[in-house]
Amino acid sequence: MSDTPRTPILTLPGLRGREWEGARLVIASHNSGKVEEIAALLAPFGIAAVAAETLALPEPEETGNSFEANAELKAKAAAEASGLPALADDSGLVVPALGGAPGIYSARWAGPSKDFAAAMALVNGKLGANSDRNARFVCALALAWPDGHCETFEGVVAGDLVWPPRGAQGFGYDPMFQPKGHQITFGEMEPQAKHDISHRADAFRKLVAACFK
Ligand code: IMP
Repeated sequence: MSDTPRTPILTLPGLRGREWEGARLVIASHNSGKVEEIAALLAPFGIAAVAAETLALPEPEETGNSFEANAELKAKAAAEASGLPALADDSGLVVPALGGAPGIYSARWAGPSKDFAAAMALVNGKLGANSDRNARFVCALALAWPDGHCETFEGVVAGDLVWPPRGAQGFGYDPMFQPKGHQITFGEMEPQAKHDISHRADAFRKLVAACFK
């Protein structure tokens, strides 16, 4: 490992010469947990990150009808307002037996008090005796440039919904989500083990392969 910091360079696939050097990247999220997680993912690439909140950027309404659409509208709004490339994510729990719900409304199912014990009980109650307990976490990551160009990547992790919920690690629906091939839920898993296989890590790997050098 060299002590020399790497020059931050972002390159868009298929658009040779269109590079962004020495710049900061905006993390278009007002959720401090997500900002920290994304900043940590970017750090090894020598990319300095600044939170949308630090730049006092407005938070756009999530009016899209897909994870990709919501990630893109957040990234584009931040890139346009800041004049810097911006990265945004949108994620949630998709349950096929519930027609894809809670999906893009995953945060809203917990209500204004962010009560995820209640949100998990709601998911379980709606499933009832249905034997199809398949679910997946999905994460869309969008990287937008100030001129409006945007690259979007989707990551997924498949699992089964268990009841009762188990474990106190993680957040959101983690205690009822057991990833395929594992005997413990995300709520019982060490954070690093979850991060290695998560939907966010999957989307980030795709973004890195396509856009970073
Ligand atoms: P967003 O902030 O609009 O992307 O909402 C994401 C919501 O999806 C969160 O509030 C959680 O309810 C859920 N979610 C997303 N990723 C995870 C995860 O890794 N574990 C548990 N719940 C998640």
